[in-house]
Amino acid sequence: MTSPLLFALDPSDPLRAGLAAAVGAERGEIETRRFPDGETYLRYASPVAGRRVILLCTLDRPDPKVLPLVLAADAARDLGAAEVGLVAPYLAYMRQDRRFRDGEALTSASFAALLSRPLDWLVTVDPHLHRIANLSERYRIPAVATHAAPLLSAWIAREVPNPIIIGPDEESEQWAAEVARGAGAPHLVLRKVRHGDRDVEVTRPDAAALSGRTPILVDDIVSTARTMIETVGHLRAAGAAAPVCIAVHGVFAERAHDALLAAGAARVVTTNTIPHVSNGIDVTALLGTTVADLLSQKRWQH
Ligand code: R5P
Repeated sequence: MTSPLLFALDPSDPLRAGLAAAVGAERGEIETRRFPDGETYLRYASPVAGRRVILLCTLDRPDPKVLPLVLAADAARDLGAAEVGLVAPYLAYMRQDRRFRDGEALTSASFAALLSRPLDWLVTVDPHLHRIANLSERYRIPAVATHAAPLLSAWIAREVPNPIIIGPDEESEQWAAEVARGAGAPHLVLRKVRHGDRDVEVTRPDAAALSGRTPILVDDIVSTARTMIETVGHLRAAGAAAPVCIAVHGVFAERAHDALLAAGAARVVTTNTIPHVSNGIDVTALLGTTVADLLSQKRWQH
């Protein structure tokens, strides 16, 4: 069988070459531009008929990316691709997973329905699964969530002596505990109340547990960084060493990265699911193995 064809919606995507190599895919070229009226022009410069097509598109700041992605998936199918899968290292719209107030849009469901229609499968890294346990509760296609926790553990074990892992809220318990186990470190989980997009309250950690240890804050997403900034403040007030902040996905809304460093984080480290200066943990091999495995099983049917 011919090798799959991998297209990056952003041709400068830093994961493009490594992922193609890890999957054993050929790199394809896709041309996109904006018409003067703002609509999207899209053309496959590499023929896709009969080929297994992999689209690579990380979905931070998703709204301008999603329509070109859907158009690309539809066009590949229309041009006779044998199948069309998506590698979205960061999967957006997972946090609005219930109606918090009457009348709200359940955007995690709408977004999943939108992507499920033109795609055969999807692979991502640590989607925000909290009130829903599995991507299959939203996506109608095989949707595989890979886990970066072992990579985070290995980074911590290599870089930080005497760490203690801190999850800033109940939602982080799942990955804080796993990261701690892998790093051979203790962990504790705080409680958080979110009053608004940029207004969060986090409980204070027990100072005795921190003695002689370097606190490592671990979360899946850092967006406004308010969750981490609030926690860093408590840790510094408790006399702890300057914490290291690690997130799988560094979304960093506005000037969140600068604000987190200014709040007293010793280091801020993220995986490269979203390109950012803080990227220090590489997920290419993790994604490559997962995609290669999925393609070899061919267990989906559109
Ligand atoms: C919460 O649901 C997530 O796990 C993160 O704690 C949250 O997304 C962080 O958001 P922010 O950086 O805006 O506080």
